[in-house]
Amino acid sequence: MRAVVQDRYGSPDVLEVRDIGTPAPRRGEVLVRVFAAGVDPSVWHLMTGVPYLVRPFLGVRRPRNRVRGIDLAGRVEVVGPDVTRFRPGDDVFGTCDGSFAEYARARADRLAPKPPSLTFEKAAAVPVSACTALQALRDQGRVESGQQVLVIGAGGGVGTFAVQLAKAFGAVVTGVCSTAKIDLVRAIGADDVIDYTRDHFPDDTRRYDVILDIAGQRPMAQLRRALSDRGTLVFVGGEGGGRWLGGLDRSLLAVLKSPFGAQRMRMFIATSPVEDLQQLTGLVEAGKLIPVIDRTYPLSQAAEAVKYLAEGHVRGKIVLTV
Ligand SMILES: NC(=O)c1ccc[n+]([C@@H]2O[C@H](COP(=O)([O-])OP(=O)(O)OC[C@H]3O[C@@H](n4cnc5c(N)ncnc54)[C@H](OP(=O)(O)O)[C@@H]3O)[C@@H](O)[C@H]2O)c1
Repeated sequence: MRAVVQDRYGSPDVLEVRDIGTPAPRRGEVLVRVFAAGVDPSVWHLMTGVPYLVRPFLGVRRPRNRVRGIDLAGRVEVVGPDVTRFRPGDDVFGTCDGSFAEYARARADRLAPKPPSLTFEKAAAVPVSACTALQALRDQGRVESGQQVLVIGAGGGVGTFAVQLAKAFGAVVTGVCSTAKIDLVRAIGADDVIDYTRDHFPDDTRRYDVILDIAGQRPMAQLRRALSDRGTLVFVGGEGGGRWLGGLDRSLLAVLKSPFGAQRMRMFIATSPVEDLQQLTGLVEAGKLIPVIDRTYPLSQAAEAVKYLAEGHVRGKIVLTV
């Protein structure tokens, strides 16, 4: 089968499309014929091995798993031992380790039936980014109806889902994005938009119950000024935070100080359990969640897709078609 493989860490040039053996599903897994695979910043981190902090988990000198890609949408081809939820021919979406390939081995509990109303391309855009947005709002931010929510990085992969999910939870949503994305962020439901390239932010006139810090590595004092006295700041991500720690020092310090103040600071690593994929499917089918696709690339152009993502200004999601 064709797959996007890397033998060493580095820039997108390390990604090569090669013929490798088709994997066989193990206990609790299925083999999926991949039709589309989402691209998100985790692909860049796994490709570069940056921040270095994560290398003990990924492989110190080279990536332990050579095939890139996490998000997938496709059709179950083979069912492994102990899998009862799926049969060959089922259309699924979810996550695995190595989705930039014609076939991928995936844990059955990381997959759900594909939302019927979505194409494979749109379904492949959902798992990592929408599960992250869901867990940030529901589990970390504990967003309630009527609360003021600020989404920083509202025009990107996680942000476009976060704006829509916060609206679905009944919040009043303000998105922070660059000028080119103002219309998009309004169109997906934001009540208000702050253009971070022009507006002074925070302007000290409004405070938010929940802030999702998805992009920009803003100073802590600036974020806390925009947070209400008992509000919650959720660190989701943000690129450009240094090669060793990737900005983790900033959020970790804030989380460690959190118990000593009334404002709550939270950080987390998202997962994509079947229950969350099903909750997202319900929202998609109710018309409350629509994946925003910026560009699609064929599998053979995976390196170009990652280069575009690494420029840092993607509009919604990028997807590879296989
Ligand atoms: N904690 C977790 O488990 C988890 C899970 C998924 C992702 N993440 C992390 O979350 C971050 C975002 O992921 P993503 O998939 O949304 O990335 P993405 O698709 O690349 O989107 C990032 C967005 O941020 C915007 N942006 C860039 N600089 C900004 C700034 N200074 N202020 C405000 N917005 C800015 C960009 O657009 P404009 O600048 O044009 O507005 C872009 O739309 C990444 O660092 C990723 O690694 C963490």
